[in-house]
Amino acid sequence: MEELVEIQQDMLPKLGFLGVGWIGKNRLESLVSANLSENIAICDTDAPSIEETLKVVPHAKKHDCLEDMLGENIDGVVIATPSALHAKQAITALEHGKAVFCQKPLGRNLAETKAVVNQAQKSDKLLCVDYSYRYTKGIQAIKEVLDEEKLGKIYAVEAVFHNAYGPDKSWFYDPKLSGGGCLMDLGSHLVDLMLYLFDAPSTEVRYANILSGGKSISNHWETVEDFAEAQLCTSSGISVRMACSWKLSVGKDADIYLKIYGTEGGACFHNVNGSFYDFQADIYTQNHAETIVTPPDDWGGKAIQRWAEKLAHSNKFSSANNELIKSAALLEDIYNFTRL
Ligand SMILES: NC(=O)c1ccc[n+]([C@@H]2O[C@H](COP(=O)([O-])OP(=O)(O)OC[C@H]3O[C@@H](n4cnc5c(N)ncnc54)[C@H](O)[C@@H]3O)[C@@H](O)[C@H]2O)c1
Repeated sequence: MEELVEIQQDMLPKLGFLGVGWIGKNRLESLVSANLSENIAICDTDAPSIEETLKVVPHAKKHDCLEDMLGENIDGVVIATPSALHAKQAITALEHGKAVFCQKPLGRNLAETKAVVNQAQKSDKLLCVDYSYRYTKGIQAIKEVLDEEKLGKIYAVEAVFHNAYGPDKSWFYDPKLSGGGCLMDLGSHLVDLMLYLFDAPSTEVRYANILSGGKSISNHWETVEDFAEAQLCTSSGISVRMACSWKLSVGKDADIYLKIYGTEGGACFHNVNGSFYDFQADIYTQNHAETIVTPPDDWGGKAIQRWAEKLAHSNKFSSANNELIKSAALLEDIYNFTRL
């Protein structure tokens, strides 16, 4: 991950936060605590969410629609609304010349994702999606080990994200508003990590199955899945087995891990004691495990902090955004496999 030069106070980006529910407010707090934004504007259709957020940023200007907020003198828009709104809102912000930091998923499908990336390119504006696990110390350490080829040739990956609970908001269970169930919500992080760690390889789906209430389903636009599994193969021959779920009896709050096997060793990124927030990274040599990263790690706000730092220096499109299209294409291929 590239190093950034220090930001002078008068270069801090002016930002508008669209959607200040759970994650929107959380990311705003991360930026404020890192002193990385000034003149914040906030926008939400829910008055109590606005009131709660004003406790964090009492001087923020408040709005109830994006179009009004775009009239403010802001450099970028941070989107944390329900997933169905992301693509349209991101495109509107980009058309108005604003940089965009959007919660995942950027779109509910490949077409929506492509439309946003194309608009970012056309407007030549900075776009980033909050794939926050990339920024954990554990993933950063494993990326370094992989880039130095310390594990030899990588040939297998196991990626898991099981959540003993389901989302607590009703819109997540409406496929038109969420774009999908646990695969869209949690599997999207696993797909992103795979693309990030292995430099965005072309990837084929060899097998996939999505289930709801223990039964296979074939159309995630009718019912959201609460369990998904897939077998993938990358162009460099890595065999990837992934599984994710909501409301799984997994014996702890969450079971999250990424295990990577190579000819010279292995690596494992995993949560600690079932936590959603604490992660460890280990390097394996045969039956020996060496821990290279342990908690604590304040990683949740890192993606937005990096984006704000970048924006302070340049609001330009990056071709790295094409990875977002690859990731959306792979998720769509997994969903489509189950329809064949
Ligand atoms: N990066 C991550 O790891 C991560 C973690 C959690 C959630 N998310 C994503 O963040 C998004 C939001 O999730 P959440 O749990 O915070 O949801 P939430 O329901 O708590 O928050 C959504 C907010 O958007 C507001 N809103 C709805 N329509 C709006 C509109 N037209 N204009 C302005 N505001 C509007 C709602 O009133 C609400 O306050 C989802 O897409 C979710 O997938 C990402």
